[in-house]
Amino acid sequence: MLPFITFEGIEGSGKTTQIQQLVRQLRHQGYQVRQTREPGGCRIADQIRSILLHPDNTALVSRAELLLYAAARAQHVEEIVQPALSAGEIVLCDRFTDATLAYQGDGRGLDRNLITQLNQLAAGNCRPNLTLLFDLPVAVGLGRARQREVDQQDSSEGRFERETLEFHERIKAGYLALAAAEPERFQVINADQTPEQISRQITAIVDNFLQVKTGAA
Ligand code: TMP
Repeated sequence: MLPFITFEGIEGSGKTTQIQQLVRQLRHQGYQVRQTREPGGCRIADQIRSILLHPDNTALVSRAELLLYAAARAQHVEEIVQPALSAGEIVLCDRFTDATLAYQGDGRGLDRNLITQLNQLAAGNCRPNLTLLFDLPVAVGLGRARQREVDQQDSSEGRFERETLEFHERIKAGYLALAAAEPERFQVINADQTPEQISRQITAIVDNFLQVKTGAA
């Protein structure tokens, strides 16, 4: 089975641009690639996404937020991720279970054991083989994300961009702790570089991973 690769990081870390670049590159190398994201990736999970990210939903309580992420994930895994992996595709997913540990765990302060159980319920045996963590200063990432919202004139998402710097600092620290706990799965990328520099680093990591783990050329 080809790998399941996830991309994680705080807001504005440049993940999406890099995923698109990697998809083009891997397809050029002849791989079948499925690009997806959480929350979302399929119709029902996209509907849940709009509830989760709409800036007007300030009344959403943390436990409801956690359950909605889990619901979106259960649908997405069964409908998209698992079938793609079974069909021999490389799956590149923008955020997955680690985001719930970082955002709902470190960010909101919800119980980690409970989150792990819900992640297990939603994702089953579907676990990332490689996780690229985009790390950069919170002020830089949030600045980029808030500017993007203004540039795109899109007011349908952005609930998390309105959270405090401290909230996002906890998430960044949470992600780095997850990476330190599982160094064989995580690769931490310095995302405070040019897109070209970041892309070169990712290419090297993924090429090496595909060679070592799958014996692919
Ligand atoms: P993004 O797709 O633009 O990265 O937005 C997704 C947002 O949802 C982002 O702020 C992180 C947040 N999130 C969680 O809080 N928990 C989760 O489990 C996931 C997947 C995302």
